[in-house]
Amino acid sequence: MSQRTFSIIKPDAVRKGDTGAILAEITKAGFKIVAIKKISLSKAQAEGFYHVHAARPFFGELVEFMASGPIFPMVLEKDNAIADLRKLMGATDPAKADEGTIRKMFASSIGENAIHGSDAEDTAAFEIGYFFAGLELK
Ligand code: CMP
Repeated sequence: MSQRTFSIIKPDAVRKGDTGAILAEITKAGFKIVAIKKISLSKAQAEGFYHVHAARPFFGELVEFMASGPIFPMVLEKDNAIADLRKLMGATDPAKADEGTIRKMFASSIGENAIHGSDAEDTAAFEIGYFFAGLELK
C-alpha cells in the first residue's frame, strides 16, 4: 500500500554537492517526490525536530551539525516507503552500511551521515508536519 515517509538531505551532503546524486538514487528506487524545499535550520528548530534524542550524549553535536548549513527536507511516497527508504539509506554508521546504500556512497561518519529517514509511521507524521503545511502535500 502506498505510504509517505519523510527524509532530509543533510548539510554534509549538500555542502559536498551530492544532492542531485542522492535524489537520483531515491527516484531510481521508485520513490515519488511529493514535496521538497531548501532551508537552513536554527539550532532551536533542529532541537525541536530531534527532541526524541534530547537525552542522548550526542544531542548537542547533532543539533549543531543540522544547523550548520542548508538542508533539503522532503516527503517521499511509494509502497512500503518507510522501510524501503531505511533500506536504501543503509546503517546509521556508514562504516556498517551495505554496498549500494546512500550512506555507503555519500556519508562520512555516524554524525555526518548524509540522509535522514523516518523510522515509523508516527515519527513520519510528526516529521512531515514539522516541515510542510497541508497545502504543500497534494
Ligand atoms: P538520523 O537518522 O538523522 O537520526 C538521529 C541522528 O543522530 C542519526 O541520524 C545520526 O546522524 C545521529 N547519531 C546517532 N548516533 C550518533 C553518535 N554516536 N554520534 C553522533 N551522532 C549520532
